[in-house]
Amino acid sequence: MSVLDRFRLEGRRALVTGGARGLGRTMSQALAEVGAEVAVASRTLEDCRAAAQEISRATGKRCAAFAVDLNRSEEIARLVAEVEGGFGTVDILVNNAGINIRGPAEEIDEADWDTVVDTNLKAPFLLARALGPGMCSRGWGRVINLGSILSVVALAGRGPYVSSKAGLVGLTRVLALEWAGRGVTVNAICPGPFATDMNRQLLSDPVRYKAFIEKIPMGRWGELDDIAGAAVFLASDASAFVTGTALFVDGGWTAQ
Ligand SMILES: NC(=O)c1ccc[n+]([C@@H]2O[C@H](COP(=O)([O-])OP(=O)(O)OC[C@H]3O[C@@H](n4cnc5c(N)ncnc54)[C@H](OP(=O)(O)O)[C@@H]3O)[C@@H](O)[C@H]2O)c1
Repeated sequence: MSVLDRFRLEGRRALVTGGARGLGRTMSQALAEVGAEVAVASRTLEDCRAAAQEISRATGKRCAAFAVDLNRSEEIARLVAEVEGGFGTVDILVNNAGINIRGPAEEIDEADWDTVVDTNLKAPFLLARALGPGMCSRGWGRVINLGSILSVVALAGRGPYVSSKAGLVGLTRVLALEWAGRGVTVNAICPGPFATDMNRQLLSDPVRYKAFIEKIPMGRWGELDDIAGAAVFLASDASAFVTGTALFVDGGWTAQ
């Protein structure tokens, strides 16, 4: 088998949360391009349907759309039942959906904290807990958690986000250990700044936009396609001996 064949995902099924836009959309398409069937899920079923149709048209792979609010554990349980019942068992879970509520600690209220931590940390745990055992019993699986450079460095005004993303990398390591030796790897992708909806505020502020570029050794923001290779690598057999790690896709930010 050539090394390129080890990146192929024919016969695998992926679930990508937040797969209708931003980094999740790019990763969903990348997984389908190398052969996976892909289910995308978010709160906006219409967007998920449109993304699933476009990806299916572009790649010829079966794609499906599901609605879920990851802040609600009963909806997560329903999503798992719907995906595994209607689409099929999940081999690759990409915990991509995430949000950021910014503000100094004294202005962040408890509800904001809960929303960010529940979406970015608790939901990935609940999904991995629901889908990981099936992967283990089938002897093959991939969990990919979207951390951030803010999993390991901090910015003021990002209390809930930084806490959730640092926690997610910790959870990645724990699950990697628990499922090691059962064919299931658990890794994180930690992006630097990418021009997505999440960063709309920063992108529309020329001063802050430039201030971010000055922190990136490569001197530019990430392009959506910059995330695709990392996702395919960690989803495939090419990364079979890689588990519990975090792959930084950040133009060198955290190398400093
Ligand atoms: N962009 C960056 O610079 C950057 C940097 C580091 C890490 N990351 C991480 O990468 C991931 C993707 O970021 P992005 O920039 O692509 O974000 P984005 O463009 O803002 O998209 C976020 C996605 O998450 C979904 N989502 C949010 N809350 C949800 C909920 N309660 N239930 C279900 N789905 C929900 C959204 O769909 P709906 O609104 O339709 O629900 C959307 O599809 C996130 O985890 C983020 O923290 C991003």
